[in-house]
Amino acid sequence: MGDPTLPRNAIVIGGTKGLGLAIAEKLAVDGNYKRVVACGRSKIDPSFSKRASLHEVELRHVDVTDRTWIHDFDVSGFDTVIYCAGFGKLKPFSEVPEDELYNLAQVNALSLTQLIRKCSLHLAGPNDFKFVAITSISSLVVSPLFAAYAAAKAFAHSYIESVNVELEMSGSKNLILEVIPGYIEATSFYGGPTKIEALGDYAIQIISAMKRGDRRIILDYEKTYRGVLDRYAKDPKSFGQESYNYKMERMKS
Ligand SMILES: NC(=O)c1ccc[n+]([C@@H]2O[C@H](COP(=O)([O-])OP(=O)(O)OC[C@H]3O[C@@H](n4cnc5c(N)ncnc54)[C@H](OP(=O)(O)O)[C@@H]3O)[C@@H](O)[C@H]2O)c1
Repeated sequence: MGDPTLPRNAIVIGGTKGLGLAIAEKLAVDGNYKRVVACGRSKIDPSFSKRASLHEVELRHVDVTDRTWIHDFDVSGFDTVIYCAGFGKLKPFSEVPEDELYNLAQVNALSLTQLIRKCSLHLAGPNDFKFVAITSISSLVVSPLFAAYAAAKAFAHSYIESVNVELEMSGSKNLILEVIPGYIEATSFYGGPTKIEALGDYAIQIISAMKRGDRRIILDYEKTYRGVLDRYAKDPKSFGQESYNYKMERMKS
């Protein structure tokens, strides 16, 4: 195993906003981390850069929409890789343009699998290597009006579950941590600005689970999602209809 006392280096794909930014910020002030790189297409909002801790976060321009992104993406020197990139828009399946369909699959699913493949030697190797990926509760339940997004997240969820078994059976201790959020308003996912103060607790939960070596965490499980998953398991049809009506109301407002 690698020396756990050595300073670590983290790269966060989708680290410019939302949960990824909150995680990057917490890692930057974590005594175990020497270098934190946040990747995305945009600059980090200047109001966050003023926060002392974010002076420690480097920014790297990365767009995972193009499937060739992975060719130039270098993970050497990093022992912590965190994939937070994702997007989705509420709309009927017939109104999702073909380009958006490809992008939904690429950003939420395929680019993650490309990255996991790129890290395969580290994941299977003897040194401590952390890989964290964010999927969604919509990968576990029916999700009308989010059909392509939910399907892409389900692809990612299933891929991680199977890869973890392969890693475990080959004797590796480096299992992938799958983070499963439900609805989180404070990120930029729904188009608003990231409210980073409201995301700190989630970032701490995720980093703690990563350090423990957990393989899955459902955010807000006891408070909300245990009940949601129970309702879905008991009556998927009613669950789907209620979800449809709720989202139709949200699209109107
Ligand atoms: N918020 C929720 O309610 C919710 C619920 C379930 C799951 N999730 C998942 O949680 C993860 C984090 O989302 P969030 O809520 O924190 O949303 P967010 O604030 O919008 O952050 C998404 C991040 O992904 C990056 N990204 C998107 N497209 C990209 C691309 N083509 N190339 C590179 N980076 C890209 C964005 O950076 P740039 O814009 O700078 O490229 C941003 O840093 C996502 O996987 C999302 O699907 C969120």
